[in-house]
This record gives sequence, C-alpha cells and structure tokens, in this order.
Amino acid sequence: MRIDIITAVPDLLDSLLGHSIVKRAVEKKLFELQIHSLRDEGLGKYRQIDDYPYGGAAGMVLMAEPLDRMLTKLSEQRTYDAIVYLTPDGELWTQNAANQFSLKGNVIMICGHYKGIDQRIRDLWVTHEISIGDYVLNGGEVAAVAMIEAIARLIPGVIGNNESLAEESHNEGLLEAPSYTKPQSWRGLEVPEMLLSGHHAEIEKWRKAQSLERTKQNRPDLLDK
Ligand code: ADE
Repeated sequence: MRIDIITAVPDLLDSLLGHSIVKRAVEKKLFELQIHSLRDEGLGKYRQIDDYPYGGAAGMVLMAEPLDRMLTKLSEQRTYDAIVYLTPDGELWTQNAANQFSLKGNVIMICGHYKGIDQRIRDLWVTHEISIGDYVLNGGEVAAVAMIEAIARLIPGVIGNNESLAEESHNEGLLEAPSYTKPQSWRGLEVPEMLLSGHHAEIEKWRKAQSLERTKQNRPDLLDK
C-alpha cells in the first residue's frame, strides 16, 4: 500500500510520523508513505497556496490551482483507489472504514488548513471526505496521522501479533474487556479470580460479558447499531 499526503506544513507531518509504528512499517517496506509540500506547486514568486474566501469570511482557503497541479502530477504516475480530504464536515472515520482502507492500493490524503480548500477540488477530485471526530482541528495533519496509524496496524507484519487485532476495541462492535498483569494483588486490588482459573472457555465468556458491560457504560450508542 502507498499513501501520498499533500500538506501545507510537511515539517509537521515529518515530526508527527517520526516516532510512530508507521515509521517502522515504512522502514520495513511494509508500506510506502510520501509527503508532498503543497508550496512546491504554489503560484508565482511567493509560491502562493491560499487566498481570501469569496463572499467574505474569516480565514484563508487553499487555492484550487496548486492542489490541482499536485493531484494531476501524482495521478499521471499511478492510479489512485481513493483521494481523501480530511475535514471536520466529512464522514466519521471508524474501525470499519480503517479495515476497508487497509485493503486499498494507492491513496492520496489532502490535509486542509485554515478555512479549508476550494470546493471545486472537492467536486472534481475528492472521492472520500473524512472526519476523525466531532471537533475542529487546526488542519488535517493530525487527522491524517490518526487515519494512517489505524490503517497501517492492520497491514500484516506491521505490529507483532495479528491475532490480538481481532479482539481489540471496536471489533465486533463492542469495546475491549479489561486487562491485568502482575502483580496479582496491588494496593489491595485483586486480579479477577476468573482470569486465574485456567478455564479458557469460561474466561472467554467472562470477557464477553465484561465487553458488553463496558460498552453499555461508555458507548451505549454502539449497541443500537
Ligand atoms: N481537519 C480539521 N478538523 C478535522 C477533523 N475533525 N477531522 C478531519 N480533518 C480535520
């Protein structure tokens, strides 16, 4: 899988990705990642990439032309399965979406900044508009990293133990059961007896019940789906 990220602040992405599992996956060649500075396609002597919004409003808008040039260049080099725009008004990013994206070949991610991007780029190029949550970030970079991390860890070999993926939070629509490790007794708090019993089938049942309880408590909305 290959992801090309278009950003006005490439240094920010470099530092965000500098220490993650994503970086190790790239080094192991399990996954390819390219960061592109939008300013490389900026207009004129000052490499302009943004301008004031028509109709008047606060903030600047990323211009269509630099984005279009960058997208044209990339699309001439290979075919893309998805062109994503990270935006708080997009569809909500979920584990389900991450599972689907982990099967794709080439993906472009466009990080907006300031007030967003010219709508015509969304109309002409973008295939998926994605939000990572109902809050507004300063730009799409942190959102892109969240997306990439969720995708990368599903690619075989990226994290050690693929079996544990199936049991994680947000699989089968339930949150994960609680975990304990040594010591067995700590500050008077004991590891639940069931986990020490060695009865694997019973432990599984217990975990499922705990998952359900935690989901009822923290995310009852997941049970309505
Ligand atoms: N850009 C700004 N806020 C965002 C969000 N919540 N999700 C994705 N991209 C964003």
